[in-house]
Amino acid sequence: MSKKIIQLIIVALVCIPAVSASEAQPVDLQKCTICHGKPSHKKVDDSGHVTSLYVDEKILKSSVHAGKACTDCHGDVTEIPHRAPPQKVNCTRCHYFGNPSGAPQDVDYRAYSKSVHGQAAAAGNKEAPWCQDCHGNHNIRSHEDPASNIFRTQIPKTCGKCHLDIYAAYKESVHGEALYEEGNEDVPVCTSCHGEHNILSPKDPESTVYAGNIAEACSRCHAAEAIMGKYGIDIEQVATYEESFHGMAGKLGSATVANCASCHGIHDIRGPEDPKSSVHIDNIPKTCGRCHEGANTNYAKGKMHIDATKKDAGIVYYVAFAFKWLTIMTLVGLVGHILLDLNKKAKRARSKKT
Ligand code: HEC
Ligand code: HEC
Ligand code: HEC
Ligand code: HEC
Ligand code: HEC
Ligand code: HEC
Ligand code: HEC
Ligand code: HEC
Ligand code: HEC
Repeated sequence: MSKKIIQLIIVALVCIPAVSASEAQPVDLQKCTICHGKPSHKKVDDSGHVTSLYVDEKILKSSVHAGKACTDCHGDVTEIPHRAPPQKVNCTRCHYFGNPSGAPQDVDYRAYSKSVHGQAAAAGNKEAPWCQDCHGNHNIRSHEDPASNIFRTQIPKTCGKCHLDIYAAYKESVHGEALYEEGNEDVPVCTSCHGEHNILSPKDPESTVYAGNIAEACSRCHAAEAIMGKYGIDIEQVATYEESFHGMAGKLGSATVANCASCHGIHDIRGPEDPKSSVHIDNIPKTCGRCHEGANTNYAKGKMHIDATKKDAGIVYYVAFAFKWLTIMTLVGLVGHILLDLNKKAKRARSKKT
């Protein structure tokens, strides 16, 4: 009871001068921080759970929203003490295309509502991220600021808050290790493969990580000599894949053949020399064996990415050879057919005229 009385006294001290000064003024920063500016300010729920209600004004002042007042975001806090519990902040009050508030316009905000996250949030999934779950609450910063949740090297941790197992696997992968141990800027973080506001389920054919699109996602880097040259990694991997049985069948629409991730893994990709790698020689029987019964360590003969245009590629060479000539002969036949047809039509037209 005494707490209520103290609160009422504070409210009286806070509100009365404000009302007399100017009636139409929104409740300003000063007044919110009288309570929320105290590090000890907290609430305890019925089950004894303690939540801090402390807000460090300095953090807000150093964020991109330095010029904003508390109620610009907490627009529903109109009474002190708060009669209704404040609602979750809706960032799209200001952040939408065509907004007059000065929030950036070059961001595709609509992509979020179509994403797997936006759809799940709209359907009432409490675990799905809202804007603030990725960007932060009061400490929102530009992606260029190393202290930002969305600074490149911070992104895996930001996504990893919810996707714990994937984050753990990524950290130990060849990509994650290079990011954390060497600060390598060429390796992919979550958003390099998945996108940011437009993240879709891998089952969605529009997704960058849909089975049929994975080779393309890896190729952005693995087919680029400018990037791979630095690490002595062959860019042939992509071309040899495309010319392999798997690549050709994939192009012809097969969803059951191996793509880069079926052999290399996804979040736990490692170099072939690493004994834990799915493409390490000792693990070949297991990796290929998932689809090829009875595969042994000789199955990949230590070399999987073989150049199909060379005879030592064995069966792959002959199939590639046959496939190439089949394509050429089909095209020759088709063009021949069209020419003959045109010739016939021209003759008929001439005979009609005469
Ligand atoms: C008289 C002290 C006091 C003042 C002034 C005050 N608040 Fe509060 N605020 C509280 C208390 C106490 C709670 C906890 C209410 C509860 O859930 O029991 C709270 C809760 C909140 C919450 C919800 C936090 C949560 O997670 O439950 C928000 C947001 C908030 N206040 C924003 C503001 C804003 C914005 C202002 C200024 C316009 C403001 N408050 C002014 C005392 C105050
Ligand atoms: C850029 C928008 C924005 C501004 C400006 C802002 N807040 Fe918040 N605040 C949030 C978000 C987002 C949360 C997280 C809860 C939620 O999603 O609603 C939050 C949470 C809170 C909470 C709950 C405790 C916590 O830290 O999670 C309190 C209390 C609070 N804000 C008070 C304030 C006060 C006081 C100010 C002014 C000094 C302020 N806020 C300014 C966006 C904002
Ligand atoms: C009251 C309007 C308003 C609200 C509400 C608001 N913002 Fe902003 N936001 C802005 C403005 C204006 C800027 C541009 C600030 C500047 O450039 O000085 C901005 C900038 C940003 C930036 C930095 C953009 C850049 O290019 O550096 C991010 C990120 C951001 N807001 C995210 C959020 C999130 C997340 C929320 C919800 C928690 C939110 N904003 C709520 C008005 C708002
Ligand atoms: C799943 C996490 C996630 C969610 C949810 C999310 N964002 Fe983002 N957002 C990002 C990432 C990551 C970037 C960084 C892009 C980059 O590196 O250029 C970003 C960039 C931005 C930017 C540009 C910032 C800058 O520094 O250039 C703004 C503004 C922004 N988001 C606002 C929003 C708003 C508003 C929402 C909700 C409608 C939202 N975001 C939801 C992850 C998210
Ligand atoms: C606040 C928690 C949270 C954060 C942060 C978060 N996610 Fe999610 N994510 C979820 C939830 C929950 C789902 C499941 C939505 C559903 O399908 O109902 C999901 C779904 C996904 C899916 C689709 C999974 C599937 O099988 O359909 C991908 C991909 C994804 N998230 C990637 C990311 C990336 C990348 C980031 C960081 C940029 C991120 N998430 C940040 C909670 C989060
Ligand atoms: C090198 C590219 C790449 C990187 C980096 C990457 N992913 Fe993925 N991710 C994929 C691919 C490809 C799939 C689809 C796998 C499949 O078909 O099942 C996927 C699937 C997912 C899924 C859904 C399937 C599942 O296992 O639940 C989630 C969630 C996800 N990734 C989150 C993340 C997060 C979080 C990070 C960062 C820590 C991340 N990804 C980094 C390529 C990547
Ligand atoms: C954003 C660029 C980028 C993307 C996208 C990317 N990688 Fe990488 N990858 C790298 C870089 C850079 C390295 C070298 C890291 C190092 O050695 O420090 C690497 C290393 C590797 C290695 C280890 C090679 C070795 O010999 O050690 C494998 C295997 C690999 N990537 C496979 C993949 C697969 C499969 C995909 C798609 C699912 C993929 N990568 C997507 C940039 C990328
Ligand atoms: C995700 C399942 C999958 C994985 C994993 C896989 N393959 Fe295949 N592979 C296929 C399918 C399906 C075909 C048949 C393609 C077609 O002609 O339609 C095929 C065809 C082949 C062929 C040509 C036909 C033959 O049987 O001689 C070779 C060689 C081959 N795979 C080798 C490998 C090797 C080596 C590995 C492991 C490094 C591997 N595959 C992993 C699905 C897979
Ligand atoms: C059928 C299984 C299979 C598929 C599909 C596959 N790889 Fe590989 N990959 C391997 C094996 C086995 C090795 C190790 C032996 C070797 O180098 O031939 C390897 C090695 C690599 C290496 C390391 C080469 C080096 O120089 O250290 C990279 C990078 C790579 N693959 C990328 C890719 C990319 C990108 C794709 C998709 C475009 C892909 N792989 C598709 C099985 C596969």
